[in-house]
Amino acid sequence: MEIHNWWKEAVVYQVYPRSFQDSNGDGIGDIQGIISRIDYLKELGIDVIWLSPVYQSPNVDGGYDISDYQAISPDFGTMRDMEQLLQQAHLRGLRIVMDLVVNHTSDQHAWFIESRESKDSPKRDWYIWRDGCGGKHPNLMTSVFSGPAWTPDEATGQYYLHLFAKEQPDLNWENNEVRQAVYKMMRWWLDMGIDGFRMDVISMISKPAGALASDGGKGLDCVNGPRVHEYLREMNREVLSRYDVMTVGETPGVTIEEAKKYGGYDTGELSMVFQFELMDVDTGACGKWNQRRYALADLKRILSRWQTGLEGHAWNSLFWSNHDQPRAVSRFGDDTSEENRVLSAKMLATCLHMMQGTPYIYQGEELGMTNMPFDGLEEIRDVETLNAYEELVCQKYIYTHDEMMARIRKSGRDNARTPMQWTNASNGGFTDGAPWIGVNPNCESVNADAQRDDPDSVLSYYKQLIRLRKKHPIIVSGSYSQVCPGDDEVFAYKRSIDDAELLVVCNFTANTLERPELESVIPKDAELLICNYPSLNNTLRPFEARVYFGRAT
Ligand code: GLC
Ligand code: CA
Repeated sequence: MEIHNWWKEAVVYQVYPRSFQDSNGDGIGDIQGIISRIDYLKELGIDVIWLSPVYQSPNVDGGYDISDYQAISPDFGTMRDMEQLLQQAHLRGLRIVMDLVVNHTSDQHAWFIESRESKDSPKRDWYIWRDGCGGKHPNLMTSVFSGPAWTPDEATGQYYLHLFAKEQPDLNWENNEVRQAVYKMMRWWLDMGIDGFRMDVISMISKPAGALASDGGKGLDCVNGPRVHEYLREMNREVLSRYDVMTVGETPGVTIEEAKKYGGYDTGELSMVFQFELMDVDTGACGKWNQRRYALADLKRILSRWQTGLEGHAWNSLFWSNHDQPRAVSRFGDDTSEENRVLSAKMLATCLHMMQGTPYIYQGEELGMTNMPFDGLEEIRDVETLNAYEELVCQKYIYTHDEMMARIRKSGRDNARTPMQWTNASNGGFTDGAPWIGVNPNCESVNADAQRDDPDSVLSYYKQLIRLRKKHPIIVSGSYSQVCPGDDEVFAYKRSIDDAELLVVCNFTANTLERPELESVIPKDAELLICNYPSLNNTLRPFEARVYFGRAT
């Protein structure tokens, strides 16, 4: 049964702290920087800030390699700063959700340092150790970040498992002490007043015995393992159910059936899933490292399947991008002209924000920030991208340097990690120092300052969309149905509840289209809630988006 929860009505904004706002000129975004921009977020109208990791970390993987869960990285500030951020957020009615990265720790975490010391270390079983197989790795499992998922360790000659970088050893969730240590740490943060957790790769914490066996296979064999739901229910019982929090599970490899457990209304696990089927819509040879553009038919099919598949059972997250994905407007819209950038950014936002689920805005998306024209490998910081380059260019000769750079410009994670563009000053107002990663040169025209008071800006449009969600319960609760599912250029759908109906029409192309047949599905006595053109005519212009609200036809 669907019940009322605050997080179903909320809009989440993801802050990637390293790239949001630097306050002390060291070129790295920090917590004081976030505090200085909190009124910007309040004005935007969001309810929740998802803070990517700010914990102590050697920063091999952008802070997703944590060496102390209860300390703040000096790059970002101090625990005092964190308390102040919480306080300032709460004063404004904003909530803060922290990243919880507990599939793995950093190899510099005290637990791993102790674990690797000897085979009979009390923490040996906290990680996943295996003997080699005939002088080789325990099996052929590969890491999500290229290369083997096993690394031999000198002290004992055994190998440890890491589904990500070798500096990110996987915790052994089968060990009850590990789980209790994680729960204790979670309670510590919740008692400090945070409002929930975004759980990093939580679908990977339970490893199927088969995946670890000597004939086991690839990294993704480790999703939805046999005990994952048992662990999450235990976590819920012992921790989450005692607080009024929002939890979102990053769940790679989740199916609709599995999602009904992770994010089910009555399964006692998490508030919602954050699933990636759409993010695979343009994969091809070499996974994401290809030049393919998605087909609208696939995008419509995937989004619609999740809308209807979860309805009444489980709650979904809505997103076009995050810190692991290229920029939404470059990937799903059109950034080749200024006009199309603005139109398509608004169209995409309309399409997503009118669906059921909790919308996530990734920092800069609300400005229509674009991918970065990376020129050389020395501009890249991301371990996944650097490892993929090493594998595909240097080891396997699949791509030339130029071919790979083109793929990095299209799909690399650093596209999302260039600094937030606040002003047209040097470095986009992000820092007075040298930024840790290049600032997109288009900050001259694409920036928050230029958009704040412009009623036609992407930023102003996002504000309107968020206000609409607050005003019309149908956007939260209405049931979903597709209109013209066979149309390869237009994505149109309805939401309905009782006698009320919402119609969303989005032209995903840069062409003017005629769709007279859509006239007949416009709700009765319809009001036009929002449109990315100043007035209507009887065509659908490039990237036009419209939302009508009225009575059922
Ligand atoms: C998640 C994070 C990503 C990170 C990975 C390993 O997918 O979003 O940034 O690299 O997990 O922690
Ligand atoms: Ca700083």
